[in-house]
Amino acid sequence: MNKINKPALLLALSLNLAGAIQPVLAQDASTHAAAIADAMPAGYRDWKLVSVAHEEGNLNDIRAILGNDIAIEAYRSGKLPFPDGAIIARIAWQYVPSEENNKAFGREQSFIAGQPTNVQFMIKNSKAYASTGGWGYVQFNGGKPAHMDAHACYACHVPVEQRDFVFTRYSP
Ligand code: HEC
Repeated sequence: MNKINKPALLLALSLNLAGAIQPVLAQDASTHAAAIADAMPAGYRDWKLVSVAHEEGNLNDIRAILGNDIAIEAYRSGKLPFPDGAIIARIAWQYVPSEENNKAFGREQSFIAGQPTNVQFMIKNSKAYASTGGWGYVQFNGGKPAHMDAHACYACHVPVEQRDFVFTRYSP
């Protein structure tokens, strides 16, 4: 991310002399969002586990929340806000009963991960994403970008502003 930002930042700084820093930073943010929008962060499936959750209703999924090394370190040290470079991933699957497991248990009690649903990321870059609390919000369906307006994602995360807009707590 630093690589992408450096030239834009230098441009912003030089243009700042002309008093034009605000529009340039705004442009930098959208360029950067476009860059990460194309592909999911590399290696995210190998990241460490923060916690799990299960949503009922329309979603009816089971989900895992993962963090890259920067995010995990911040979680474990209890340091807020998360530093730039932290990325939190939310992966999810349909929540389905397992006949196989139920047979082994001799009763209906087992639910497992079925088909994957979508993957969401929160990407910390306090400058690029200043308008959404310092986090970029992106979503992928079947590995393809399926972003919604990041401000809509952000709006729903505002209630946990005191935890840097992150709902999920670290499960030891
Ligand atoms: C209707 C409210 C709502 C909206 C809209 C929403 N989220 Fe969340 N998000 C939550 C809640 C609640 C959790 C924690 C529980 C869970 O994971 O089910 C969460 C968890 C997450 C997490 C795991 C980190 C954390 O905060 O716990 C990520 C990553 C995430 N959301 C990304 C997104 C992205 C990207 C979007 C937009 C595409 C989005 N969210 C839209 C409510 C929302």
